[in-house]
Parts: sequence; structure tokens; C-alpha cells
Amino acid sequence: MKDKIARIKENIEKSLQEIKTGKELYELKVNYLIGKMSEIPSLMKELGKADKDERPKLGQMINGLKDWATEVIAEKEKAIAEIERRARYEAETIDITMPAKKREEGSLHPVTVIKNELVEIFSGMGFMVMETREIEDDFHNFTALNTPKEHPARDKQDTFYISDDLMLRTHTSPGQIHALKTLKPPFKVIVPGRVYRADDDATHSPMFHQMEGLAIDKKVSLCDLQGMLDVLVKKMFSSNVKTRFRPSFFPFTEPSVEVDVSCFECGGKGCKLCKGTGWIEILGGGIVNRKVIENCGLDPDEYTGFAFGFGLDRIAMLKYGINNIHILYEGDVRALKQFKIL
Ligand code: DAH
Repeated sequence: MKDKIARIKENIEKSLQEIKTGKELYELKVNYLIGKMSEIPSLMKELGKADKDERPKLGQMINGLKDWATEVIAEKEKAIAEIERRARYEAETIDITMPAKKREEGSLHPVTVIKNELVEIFSGMGFMVMETREIEDDFHNFTALNTPKEHPARDKQDTFYISDDLMLRTHTSPGQIHALKTLKPPFKVIVPGRVYRADDDATHSPMFHQMEGLAIDKKVSLCDLQGMLDVLVKKMFSSNVKTRFRPSFFPFTEPSVEVDVSCFECGGKGCKLCKGTGWIEILGGGIVNRKVIENCGLDPDEYTGFAFGFGLDRIAMLKYGINNIHILYEGDVRALKQFKIL
């Protein structure tokens, strides 16, 4: 047994001199120290067969061998790690004269930029953001919004029907119904999202984006809407932009208004963008029709609100001077690159 201990020590010493890599060293460790059948632990097992008198002495020797082996292997591990680190550094020399790899940089889509800007502004005014479904039923898209069966907005030429009762939403206004049915007044909410209409020309695309707004409380008036919109357009376009209300009609608001902003391009003098009028139409809105509030199970004598809706694509086109909506959706990188507006 003593011979065996000496031989193992000798072998380890010899191997250590030859070993150059971490892998080889690990194999050595497995063979002598940590493997299931490795040499030093096997010696311990054999100890039982040795003479009783010799056992304590042999035990000590084996333990000594184990401590020694652990230490020398650890030292060698350190030395190899250092050598390998140096070799890696040398291999990794950087040639600073090499031309840099060009990384193509993406950018956000103009409509996304506008949406993010608006979400930021509305959040600052206490509006929460709600996203509702794109496939709607008749109740949410039309009936609850006080749009009766014969209303022209239901025309099959405008609406993409999926079945008698289901359709791709034609506007984000059904978001108002979801909000009224799920949120507890008072609340302020915006609903951005995709909408669909069978309409296709330079300023219309079958899929486009809208943002709906709804504020419900007691005694809400048109002044509240106007005050809020005034802040909005100043933040969105420029601080000297003004708003103007024109009477209009929507089934879900009464009274209804169409809102113009003074032209941010010419300051109101008249230019190509505002078609010489000095004003640009940006959204529709009004005081929520009593019937809509009633349809959602609330008391219109107690709760009132204002609502508004507008096209995000339209705002993007106005802001970035895009004259054809299809530029936004054809995915032509050359066109979109011009609006690198991260
Ligand atoms: N839903 C209307 C549309 O698609 C826009 C709109 C007008 C929304 C007036 C409103 C509103 O909330 O009050 O043309």
C-alpha cells in the first residue's frame, strides 16, 4: 500500500509536468481525486484490507496524499487559467484600421411615433389607455352608439362584415361602450387602435388608425372639451396653434362638433397644406349622447361626458407632410427612411 501511495504521487507529479490545458487537468482530477473509481478514494476503500496496526498510519498517509494532490492541482489550475487568459488576449488583438461593420438602424413608424406622443400627452392629463377588440359586434360598433339599423354608416360598402352580427370595427368609438361598461365613473380614457373601412384612395386606406377619447363625470361641458383640446394641440403642433369648433353631427354625441386647428404651416395665412383656408380639420367630438350613456346602464341625468375621435394616420401625414396614405403602408424603406423620427 505504501508503494502504491508513492507511485500515485509520482504519477501525479509526472502528469502535472506534461499537462498544458484545463481539459487535461480536469481529466487528471477525475482519475485521481473526484471520479467515482478514482485512485485516491479507492485507496481509502482498500484500507480495510490492510493490517490493523498499520491502518492509522496508512490512513494518515492517504489523507496527506489527498491534501497534497488537491493543493498541487489547484495551483496548476490557476497557472493554466492565467496562460489561457493571456493566449486569449493575444489572439484577440484588435485591428483598429479595419473598416467598421455597418449596422442598419431601424426607426419607429410615423404612426407609432404620433401614437406614442399622444399617449404621453393624454397620460399627463390623467387619461388612461385602453385597447379594445378589433372584431366587434353590432351592439358595440353601432347600436349602443345610437347608430340605428338604417344608418348609412352601416352600409355594406363601408363595413367589412364577418357575419350578420360581427364586423371589423369601423372606428374606435366602440371603445367608449367598453369603457362605460367596465370602468367606474368618473374616468378619462383614450382608446388607440386599428380600424377598417372599405375605402381606398390617396387619403384613405382600408386599414387605418384612430384614437378615441372619453371623459365621464358629473356636469361635463363642451368647455371642458375645448380647454383640453387647446392644451393638446399646443403640445402636439406648436404653442401658437389655436382651435375652432364647428357644429356637426355624429349619432353618439349631442351636440357634435368638428374641430379645426389654425394651420401650423402658414400660421393661418393660407397655404397648400390648409388649402388656403388657414384651418385644418383634425377631429370630431362632442358631448356624449344621453342615449349612449343609457345604453350602457348609467343614468344620463347623473353622468355626462365628452368624447372625441381622430385619425392617427391623418395627423402623421399632416405633421410629416405625407400626401398619400399608402406611403405609410407600402413598406418602402426608402420612403419611411425620410421620417427617421425616433
Ligand atoms: N367615430 C367617428 C369617426 O370614425 C369619430 C368621432 C366623432 C368619434 C365624434 C367621437 C366623436 O368620439 O365624439 O368618424
